[in-house]
Amino acid sequence: MLNYRTTIQHYFDDEAHLYSKTYTGDNELGKEVVDRYLSTLIPFVPRKKTLEIGCGPATFTRHFSQSAWMVGVDFSSSMLEFAQKSDPQAHFTQADGQELPFRNESFDVVYSFRTLQHIPDTQRAVSEMYRVLKDNGVLIIDYINIKNPLGWVRAKVLKSTKYVYLKAMRWEQVKALCSLHQLHILEHKPVIFFLDSSNLFKYLPIFLAKGIRVILNLRLFRSLGSSFLSRYALRQVVIARKGGPS
Ligand SMILES: C[S@@+](CC[C@H](N)C(=O)[O-])C[C@H]1O[C@@H](n2cnc3c(N)ncnc32)[C@H](O)[C@@H]1O
Repeated sequence: MLNYRTTIQHYFDDEAHLYSKTYTGDNELGKEVVDRYLSTLIPFVPRKKTLEIGCGPATFTRHFSQSAWMVGVDFSSSMLEFAQKSDPQAHFTQADGQELPFRNESFDVVYSFRTLQHIPDTQRAVSEMYRVLKDNGVLIIDYINIKNPLGWVRAKVLKSTKYVYLKAMRWEQVKALCSLHQLHILEHKPVIFFLDSSNLFKYLPIFLAKGIRVILNLRLFRSLGSSFLSRYALRQVVIARKGGPS
């Protein structure tokens, strides 16, 4: 059996070029994904000392490094090469999210998107993020929702395929993780984009995808869908403050 680190590093080293093209280039579907996540960061990151775990090709840091002190950590050296090119102002370090090479309480904001799902010891990764976060600092993470059928399939079926560890969680598990650490939840919300381009784009023609997106955006569907989506959407974001309400 391949070692977890080697397997996942190889997998993401191989994906780095495609990732960079999709999420830092001129790709319509990539932009949709990035915009949805950026909107959760915008209220917190500008002017703050901020750390991202699993920064990939600087998908998000590049949008803030003019206005904030951005540090990105990733396992994959190829991802970091792309990151450095697309975001020369940010600071990047190759490290494991389960063992962060930073002092306690160094950052105002720590976030991680689309990465925790690949880390076997979620609790350890969250403990590390918590450790390097200042008191009253803000933690922003996302998770794959196991209540979503696609989330269930990805975690239960794809998990056992050749390459990459994938985990889906329940909201209750995430809440328990937050209360284990002293993390006061400020917000829990779905992140909705119609296509996760790294997965579905391969299978669905773009005009069909756009058509479905227009229909789902109609006001009727939006209002019918909002409570459903907050429960069943594939990806959910949690925003929490270290040390309780303030
Ligand atoms: C799906 S990509 C997401 C990249 C970026 N956050 C985005 O949303 O575009 C996951 C990233 O996490 C990195 N990664 C996976 N496990 C990691 C770990 N244990 N420590 C640090 N980085 C890790 C991978 O190398 C990859 O760049």
